[in-house]
Amino acid sequence: MNYENIIVEVHGAVGLIRLNRPKALNALNSALISELNVALDDFEKDRAIGALVLTGSEKAFAAGADIKELQALTYMDAYLSDTIASWERLSFFRKPAIAAVAGFALGGGCELAMMCDYILAAENAKFGQPEIKLGIMPGAGGTQRLTRAVGKAKAMEMCLTGRLMDAQEAEKAGLVARIVPADKLVEEAMLAATSIADKSLPIAMQIKDCINSAQEMTLTQGVKFERRNFHAAFATEDQKEGMAAFIAKRPAHFRDR
Ligand code: CAA
Repeated sequence: MNYENIIVEVHGAVGLIRLNRPKALNALNSALISELNVALDDFEKDRAIGALVLTGSEKAFAAGADIKELQALTYMDAYLSDTIASWERLSFFRKPAIAAVAGFALGGGCELAMMCDYILAAENAKFGQPEIKLGIMPGAGGTQRLTRAVGKAKAMEMCLTGRLMDAQEAEKAGLVARIVPADKLVEEAMLAATSIADKSLPIAMQIKDCINSAQEMTLTQGVKFERRNFHAAFATEDQKEGMAAFIAKRPAHFRDR
């Protein structure tokens, strides 16, 4: 497929998607989201892909939903077409996904980053849910995922005032996993994704599934779900290989089976 709003690359076993509407600071319009969803479908189906990196530019991961596209929307348009619902595709992506965020990650941009499994932030990253300044509210999970990531007080403050959080504060608050120099952001994210893709894909997918379930289940249910997945790991060839390699003091070669 010829993409106009994203750039899709494959580096070894890692899929790299760059949001690419530089003139609009990667504002997320429906064409971009449709293209993103096609790329996600393709990477999910591709057995050779073990992890995904989603990034933007040095100035903006994404400055939110495209305000020019939303401006004329009526309630009935929004309700009947279920506006924004298709954005959730990323949150159902089954393989590990890292958001590499430099510059602005605002509104839908912050929400998209939070749909990834974790966020690596450049020193210049800025996160925020400024929708209230536009007379709307977050609509792609901001009130839910931000609250789970940083707690009620900071989520309330950010969503109610529109205040932006810099990379340092975001790391301290638990929104981002790690801060890296801006000029090394994609390189670091690709290194991390390659390290994940070198492992067993089914096991990485089970880990992702279990950690995501921690936010949906009670502790007892979650621990039981984890234990069943732990047991299932012993049905894989990769478990035999990983443990044999450890004992033989050689690197493991996982084959995703
Ligand atoms: N939608 C459409 N266009 C946008 C945009 C957006 N979200 N954000 C930036 N742009 C465009 C600007 O209109 C401008 O285009 P023109 O050159 O044609 O005028 C271009 O990108 C550059 O932007 P600025 O001149 O504003 O750049 P700046 O460096 O002065 O400011 C900024 C950067 C602080 C990010 C500012 O652009 C801004 O506040 N953007 C809007 C952020 C926002 O409110 N996001 C939430 C959107 S709603 C949402 O996301 C809902 C949801 O939950 C899904």
